[in-house]
Amino acid sequence: MTRLSVNINKIATLRNARGGNIPDVIKVAIDCERFGAQGITVHPRPDERHIRYSDVTELKKVVSTEFNIEGYPSEKFMKLVLSVKPHQVTLVPDPPDALTSNAGWNTKKNKSFLYEIITELKNSGIRASIFVDTVTENIENAVDTGTDRIELYTEPYASIYSTDKKAAIAPFIKAAKIAQKSGLGINAGHDLNLQNLKYLKVNIPWLMEVSIGHALISEALYYGLENTIQMYLRQLK
Ligand code: PXP
Repeated sequence: MTRLSVNINKIATLRNARGGNIPDVIKVAIDCERFGAQGITVHPRPDERHIRYSDVTELKKVVSTEFNIEGYPSEKFMKLVLSVKPHQVTLVPDPPDALTSNAGWNTKKNKSFLYEIITELKNSGIRASIFVDTVTENIENAVDTGTDRIELYTEPYASIYSTDKKAAIAPFIKAAKIAQKSGLGINAGHDLNLQNLKYLKVNIPWLMEVSIGHALISEALYYGLENTIQMYLRQLK
């Protein structure tokens, strides 16, 4: 089974545009689960421009499926996740002012840094995942960081899917096989949508989780949140 974790950052972006509490991020998380999502993902950034640190604490109280927190492991981020203790923390290398995550870790260069952070997470009973591209060296070195899983950065897949899906998927199958052989669990995320998700799942059936935000929330404007989540779940069957 591949779990669908809904990234609700965009809901917070909409709320923050007006001040006040519409839409209610907490209610949306509960409803996503009610509509079938098997996880909730948030990505608090240092400037709290979408999900706020206080949202993360409140979400922990209500999320009954899997709670996944993504982010760069700054001191502030680590303090937050070690006190909230979500099921999973996904470490991303993006600088504080990045618009969105746009690269995976150089796991060779950051091996000892990641090892230290991951050890801290695991000592607190939190599963660790690290965001990586499909470069073999990055997958191989990920093993030595002690991470439980990797999250494959799927933007390069999504960007050429519509013109050449075979070429788009090839490096992902290769990376996923290397990771599987090394005993790493595999998640995936970034720019996945109703068009490209099924082909990813069919080619990497051992995929454990996808986290999807931008497209899912945008599609919900047309189909409604419940329908959209159900449509995504069907792509993963
Ligand atoms: N995974 C990571 C590490 C991310 O940073 C993001 C975006 O916040 C996603 C997955 C979800 O990407 P998208 O919003 O394109 O579905």
